[in-house]
Amino acid sequence: MAKNHTVATLKQLVADGQKFSMLTAYDASFAQMFSKLGVESLLVGDSLGMVLQGQDSTLPVTLDQMVYHTAAVARGNQGALIVADLPFNSYASVDQCQASAGQLMQAGAHMVKLEGGAWLTDSIVSLSRAGIPSCVHLGLTPQSVNKFGGYKVQGRDEVAAQTMINDAIALVEAGADFVLLECVPTDLARAITDAVPVPVIGIGAGNVTDAQVLVSYDMLGFTQHRLPKFVKNYMAEPNTLAEAVTRYIDEVKSGAFPGPEHAFD
Ligand code: KIV
Repeated sequence: MAKNHTVATLKQLVADGQKFSMLTAYDASFAQMFSKLGVESLLVGDSLGMVLQGQDSTLPVTLDQMVYHTAAVARGNQGALIVADLPFNSYASVDQCQASAGQLMQAGAHMVKLEGGAWLTDSIVSLSRAGIPSCVHLGLTPQSVNKFGGYKVQGRDEVAAQTMINDAIALVEAGADFVLLECVPTDLARAITDAVPVPVIGIGAGNVTDAQVLVSYDMLGFTQHRLPKFVKNYMAEPNTLAEAVTRYIDEVKSGAFPGPEHAFD
């Protein structure tokens, strides 16, 4: 029987100096396979808009769709912590955030993830009061692609880097349980990981964070477009899916993944 991972056990694991792995899952079969193999956390990412639906961004994904996929993942899960994304325009106010997060939790999520900076502080306080764990997604936040003008590394200049550090600290002080950093320079990821007392998960943030996440369709070689620099295709050599996932878990835990070739400096 696979281990039951919770927010508390993953915080303890990181406090003990260990790293943990996260993969996106959108259905019961992959959720079952990944969790049985030992992936500690499953992310029902709004990346499903791109990898399942063929959209060119995550913006068209709806809350109903996230609820549907979260429920499917929950049915297959064997003990991993399920984190579900609040999709675009489902958390524009504190009340809307609370109501949307409630739906994801009732579908089987153990934590919700939301993209943005210090402006989310009141929502994080409200979620925390209601017993809803949260993960704040900083750096390249794909729901803001139209503001960024593309999928670009964030926090490269000093002001942007300091703002991101301040945002992380403010959100964790407000009650965020995890921080996720996407596409930021390794030095900035290290500074944020050192600055906050909660697990920091990285994707394109170097191997200095406490955990790593990848979009499963990317690391299993299903994605047909050019993969971002931070992705490793674990099916590049002839592997079974189970071997590929096990290798990913081992490399995350040992710090071998991501290598310098997957990081931004
Ligand atoms: O939606 C998603 O899969 C994500 C990851 C890229 C972190 O947010």
